[in-house]
Amino acid sequence: MCGIVGYVGSATPGQRPLEVLVEGLRRLEYRGYDSAGVAVVTPEGLVSAKKAGKLSNLLEELDARHLPAGTAGIGHTRWATHGGPTDANAHPHLADGGRLALIHNGIIENFHSLKRELAETGVTFHSETDTEVVAHLLARAYDDAENLTEAMRATVTRLEGAFTLLAIHADQPGEVVGARRNSPLVIGLGVGENFLGSDVSAFIAQTREAMEMGQDQIVTITASEVHVIDADGHAVEPKRYTVDWDAAVAVKGGFSTFMDKEIHDQPQAVADTLLGRAGEDGRLELDEMRISEAVLRSVDKIIVIACGTAAYAGHVAKYAIEHWCRIPVEVELAHEFRYRDPVLTEKTLVVAISQSGETMDTIMAVRHAREQGAKVLAIVNTHGSTIPRESDAVLYTHAGPEVAVASTKAFLAQITACYLLGLYLAQLRGNKFPDEIREDLAQLHAMPEKIQRVVDNEEQVRAVARSMKDERTVLFLGRHVGFPVALEGALKLKELAYIHAEGFAAGELKHGPIALIEEGQPVFVIVPSPRGRDALHAKVISNIQEVRARGARTLVIAEDGDDAVVPFADEIFRIPQTPTLLAPLVSVVPLQIFASALATAKGLDVDQPRNLAKSVTVE
Ligand code: F6R
Repeated sequence: MCGIVGYVGSATPGQRPLEVLVEGLRRLEYRGYDSAGVAVVTPEGLVSAKKAGKLSNLLEELDARHLPAGTAGIGHTRWATHGGPTDANAHPHLADGGRLALIHNGIIENFHSLKRELAETGVTFHSETDTEVVAHLLARAYDDAENLTEAMRATVTRLEGAFTLLAIHADQPGEVVGARRNSPLVIGLGVGENFLGSDVSAFIAQTREAMEMGQDQIVTITASEVHVIDADGHAVEPKRYTVDWDAAVAVKGGFSTFMDKEIHDQPQAVADTLLGRAGEDGRLELDEMRISEAVLRSVDKIIVIACGTAAYAGHVAKYAIEHWCRIPVEVELAHEFRYRDPVLTEKTLVVAISQSGETMDTIMAVRHAREQGAKVLAIVNTHGSTIPRESDAVLYTHAGPEVAVASTKAFLAQITACYLLGLYLAQLRGNKFPDEIREDLAQLHAMPEKIQRVVDNEEQVRAVARSMKDERTVLFLGRHVGFPVALEGALKLKELAYIHAEGFAAGELKHGPIALIEEGQPVFVIVPSPRGRDALHAKVISNIQEVRARGARTLVIAEDGDDAVVPFADEIFRIPQTPTLLAPLVSVVPLQIFASALATAKGLDVDQPRNLAKSVTVE
């Protein structure tokens, strides 16, 4: 949570630092929007501005109060942890008589004892945050150290927990110093200027050249140089890379919300994730593989770990991988995984799925799995993030930057990557013949066009959503791969429209949930292909009849040509004919559009729903 940006440019003071910080904050706002703030080093000393609420509040403040020209600066957009979303708790936090400014992402777990220690030496605090404690610690270390870098190195040895920290000091107008532990920080390389950010979107409007920062490293950027050291003060050579998307991808492109744009991006996201996966010999390849083929052949269990929407992608993976590879697959919420003492051996393959690659619960689960001797394969959308760096193998989804807090295109790309993984394992272990794999890949390559057809039918879904803006509860039913789709449909509606929504396995209905059905209760039903397993389709048709007989209003997602649903559906949303296992790629799309349209009809902020942040970087 929280977005961080840092900048150093020309020694001649100007408006560029503030411009870069504001542009960075605009692009980082999805990481947290409880407050925002900036601090800039100017010839008159350090100046800062910060405001509770969305970035627009800070921008109004900056319009009213022109900050003087500067050389370097830091900016922050907050998702509150310690202390409510107030002006006082907004970052930057100042120390050393207002000459030092600090911003932070993460949680300092030992801040109470540090605060007590500082208070005893006479320090007065102006906020309830853990960050302000670090600002004062850093100021005290700066008194004793040769420079801000050494002061930062000394300070982080006192901290427990997760943090990315950026600091500037009025005495060092040409530098920004940063540090990270269990929280992300990347470096952006410009010409005569350099950048720091929580992720590359912080500086993507300025440069696509970037460097990764490792755990417990400290970075100092000046206009012309980047120095990274480890916790012992030894120089480190960071890994350099070029970001494979540009600033234009992360703008709304004519849509009224990022989420709507990202729903429309989905055919491309799936196509890009499939791109270039087969080598010259037609065999599938992953992006980074540090697990031997012998070890992969010996895998006797897969555990998928992920949170939220990414975990539902994992549920889809379970059906596909078990069917194709005959390996048992468990799916576990990452935050539960570590605490139940899971049975892991060197034959267990743990698959960590994450859009951001920075979800703390998933990172901790990855570490736990590796400590127990399991191999970890990451399915991640964000290059240079922590999860792929700490995993044994990586399969990147190529969904491009996802800005809306609610995940859409990353979900479809994750499901696609799971299918690729299933086919890769089937190829390696000989579960499928090469021609079968080619046939499955051809089916996958046909999916972007099918997804496009569902997106093109959005107006029907939107009209129904608008008519339902006063509903108080909506239920979702699915079987087989339709079950995780039902769960995802319910999650989207909860997080965007603040409506009670629940997804059920349709077979579970008679074991309790059917008691919820009363006259007019809206129930979405995801109907499997009638051309797949007969029993599956017939059972879902029975479930629709059961809820309808009790007064439910049925909203049915069914394949083109499936006439069996017609007598029992109040509304039918059609999806193209698709092999059963691949159907989630199309059946979830109407549910995404529905949630977005209903939230819009209620006048809610679709891209930034209340209480949420894009990356959950705290446990
Ligand atoms: C819901 C949503 C979240 C994320 C979850 C995991 O729309 O976006 O449930 O899926 O927080 O995030 P990542 O994939 O970044 O690990």
